Amino acid sequence: MSQSSAAPAIAHNKPPEILSLIGDTPLVEVTQFDTGPCRLFLKLENQNPGGSIKDRIALSMIEAAEAEGKLVPDGTVIEATAGNTGLGLALVAGAKGYRVLLVIPDKMSQEKISHVRALGAEVRITRSDVTRGHPEYYQDVAFRLAEEIPGGFYVNQFGNPANPLAHERTTGPEIWEQMRHDVDAVVVGVGSGGTLTGLGRFFNRVKPRRGIEMVLADPTGSVLYEYVKTGKLVESGSWAVEGIGEDFIPEIADMSLVTEAFEIDDEESFATARELLRKEGIFGGSSTGTLVAGALRYCREQTKPKRVVTLVPDTGNKYLSKMYNNFWMAEQGFIHRPPHGDLSDLISHRYEAGEVITVGPDDSLLTAFKRIRNSDVSQLPVVDKTGRAIGIIDESDLLVTVHREPSHFNDPVSTAMTDQLETLPPDAKITDLLGVFDRGRVAIVMDGNKFLGLITRTDLLSYLRLHMPKSSTPPEREFA
Ligand SMILES: Cc1ncc(COP(=O)(O)O)c(C=O)c1O
Repeated sequence: MSQSSAAPAIAHNKPPEILSLIGDTPLVEVTQFDTGPCRLFLKLENQNPGGSIKDRIALSMIEAAEAEGKLVPDGTVIEATAGNTGLGLALVAGAKGYRVLLVIPDKMSQEKISHVRALGAEVRITRSDVTRGHPEYYQDVAFRLAEEIPGGFYVNQFGNPANPLAHERTTGPEIWEQMRHDVDAVVVGVGSGGTLTGLGRFFNRVKPRRGIEMVLADPTGSVLYEYVKTGKLVESGSWAVEGIGEDFIPEIADMSLVTEAFEIDDEESFATARELLRKEGIFGGSSTGTLVAGALRYCREQTKPKRVVTLVPDTGNKYLSKMYNNFWMAEQGFIHRPPHGDLSDLISHRYEAGEVITVGPDDSLLTAFKRIRNSDVSQLPVVDKTGRAIGIIDESDLLVTVHREPSHFNDPVSTAMTDQLETLPPDAKITDLLGVFDRGRVAIVMDGNKFLGLITRTDLLSYLRLHMPKSSTPPEREFA
């Protein structure tokens, strides 16, 4: 690689040492689950420096582009992704001194965008409501930017041969050595298809004639399971697991390598990932749940002992506000509480279970403000020492009191709260709730003297969304 005459701040020929820690991830055996007659092993790709398996392909695709002269010093690495590939590229290409530009659909979470920005990547937000072929489709935008920007290199993980090659050259051989050359089946998911194609090629080479089964675990709603089973491309549905499942067959995905497939729904994936953390202490992302659930099904179906490997493709850190958050899980209908058949079913945070953030009448307004900010709510119930809800305080109550004289932040909550409460019994009707909302209030649900919790407009909307017929739910998916 040649050095440009104006030396950049970071020398391209000596990247930070962290890049040498990509790969060589540990492999551990699952011991706390029923694996039938089989032994199940997990390759912990969540332990890569960027937190996912995609660090490997980021390194491989960047190095291949450097070797082929497609990426020149001071060049710009461009990719359409807000997922792990973006993080991997931001880490690897950023560390090597390249400019990194990621095209991100506008529905991606702020957390992910903040993460790639923190790594130094630039972000272009584009529309998420358009599909392949539309000029604002995120992959088409990335392709165009790479043509327009001098020194621009479009990585294109879905069509880049250095993606599967990373797994053929590193992930596969590592598993083979760690398993002491004794493997019967490998369970994978398909996002771009890099893992499947790379591992499939490697294992076919070391144990030819389908000696090692390649098992696909695919989210329900993705088209890949059906394609493997019937050869037909069906219309895709929606799924919430991130990073795997597709609505098309990616260019680099060699689906002919798959010997068996399982379809796993979101609920089973999330439950399995959560169980894996509790039982084995392994903190994986949502697709870890899909892969482990698929691997467990495969294992339990076997009649002979087999040695099975699957992956923990990314860390659970990214999913703390979703899959690992009980309120999100309940709101999305993945955790089922026993229904009461009344308004209490709409309460997302139950007082009795310690789930409601409250303030006391003698707490300061500053305390109330901090709790409102930290818990990302717009009002707090004011609850006295006996557990009775005696008021409610929201941002406008705070503003009215402190806007002229900020020292009023030290005043007690009782001086600013609203004590005209809109209380409803659990057997009230949804129309009663609407009346409360029309008056600009939230409903306080009381069973006699017992405070059960609040119901807000968002709670009602979430409840109604959960009860809408499945067929009318538009497909919605994450981006790899
Ligand atoms: C979160 C996540 N990303 C990516 C992948 C790998 O997908 P691919 O190599 O097909 O892009 C997986 C595979 O299981 C995954 O779980």
